[in-house]
Amino acid sequence: MTQAHPDPATARLARVRSIAGAHHGMPGALLPILHAIQGELGWVPAEAVPVIAETLDLSRAEVHGVISFYHHFRTTPPGRHVVQVCRAESCQAMGGEALEAHAKASLGIDWHETTADGAVTLEPVYCLGNCACSPAIRVGDEILGRLDAAGFDEVVAALRGEEADAGLLPRDSAGAPSGLRDGGVSR
Ligand code: FES
Repeated sequence: MTQAHPDPATARLARVRSIAGAHHGMPGALLPILHAIQGELGWVPAEAVPVIAETLDLSRAEVHGVISFYHHFRTTPPGRHVVQVCRAESCQAMGGEALEAHAKASLGIDWHETTADGAVTLEPVYCLGNCACSPAIRVGDEILGRLDAAGFDEVVAALRGEEADAGLLPRDSAGAPSGLRDGGVSR
């Protein structure tokens, strides 16, 4: 007999309970729990708040307050790729502001937003430890340096090309990922 898989929300809640339970009794457990949940799920779902509050004997408002205080924590699922652009001093001095503006304009989104096709989430980050190669971005676990607008476009094109190869994005008649037509993202 085949076993029914739990729906995604139920599975998420089970992971949240397990993570919160594993930190029970640890001093200052709230941030480690939130990091662990986001590390595993990619975001901190709303249903995690009451579970964490109950586990740590905190109010829901206290848990929610910490989540909303740190921009690092996502309260909605990220896109398939998270692109972080460094906004710290060295990168700002080396063209980071122009890179930020280009990233937002070319993707058609602001910080903490995701392209309509779910491919890319854009986030600010404050120093990636790659100051010697400013301006820097991080794509997933990879840190890239000396990025200009053209380099940023190449990175995004490569991400979309990989998705098209994997069948996640359609290609147009010329073989290009269709989300890249006209230098932007189909919305
Ligand atoms: S300031 Fe951007 S990597 Fe350090």
